[in-house]
Amino acid sequence: MSVIKTKDISKVYNPDTVPIHALRNVNITFEEGEFSSIVGPSGSGKTTLLNMIGGLDKPTSGTVEVNGTIITGMKDRKLIDFRLHNIGFVFQHYNLIPVFTARENVSFIMLLQGREKKVIRQRAEELLDEVGLGDRKNARPAQMSGGQRQRVAVCRALASEPKFILADEPTANLDSTAAMNLLDIMQKMNEEQKVTFVFSTHDQRVVERARRVISLVDGAIESDKYQKAYEYDKAGAHISTKTSCCTPDLHNMDS
Ligand SMILES: Nc1ncnc2c1ncn2[C@@H]1O[C@H](COP(=O)(O)OP(=O)(O)O)[C@@H](O)[C@H]1O
Ligand SMILES: [Mg+2]
Repeated sequence: MSVIKTKDISKVYNPDTVPIHALRNVNITFEEGEFSSIVGPSGSGKTTLLNMIGGLDKPTSGTVEVNGTIITGMKDRKLIDFRLHNIGFVFQHYNLIPVFTARENVSFIMLLQGREKKVIRQRAEELLDEVGLGDRKNARPAQMSGGQRQRVAVCRALASEPKFILADEPTANLDSTAAMNLLDIMQKMNEEQKVTFVFSTHDQRVVERARRVISLVDGAIESDKYQKAYEYDKAGAHISTKTSCCTPDLHNMDS
């Protein structure tokens, strides 16, 4: 079963005044364990598509299915609860709660899920340690660099153990060292813990790191390709990073 499946989704903003066709009949499926990037120029519909997939906004027509459940048309309360347990978000502007520490920002979503205090504390600690923020757990967002804030945001997205993480231009506000560091972390989580990531970007260096690249133009999918970007030796150690493209075929994916 696919984790995400869109059927003919279209989005028209301002339908009654000056209609803007942000998405046009998008059909796309993501499988568990994918590390995919949506690319396209500014205004091509990347954010709109991620918002539809994540149930943050509703398509004008078409349906979105997440893990076998059609979320389009779901009542708001049910959708909020569904998102809480199934979808993790990472935003371009981090969207951390300023008065909360890193640990509290990561813990909050687990509190909403009603998990046990002890479990919450342990998971928040483990996640922050994993992204190299073990010594910043009590820092507030204003006391952290952009790269550190975005690493907290990745921990927050992972904390709820979602089916997948949507990241809208996660590196757009980071310098290149911080951007590559964030990508390393996301890639490691994908490879070692099989976390499914769908991110958008228009940064070519970020695009190169994706296994699958979906290109949007004027709200429509122009191409959808798997890149054979990484090769691994038998022990699983990283040995090379070549980028040759192949036609969309799940069986060609390294896994
Ligand atoms: N809330 C909105 N109201 C009206 N138009 C919007 C809104 N959000 C996005 N748009 C328009 O929809 C198109 C796609 O935008 P967006 O999804 O943000 O693209 P991208 O993320 O690729 O830059 C653009 O023309 C944009 O101006
Ligand atoms: Mg955008």
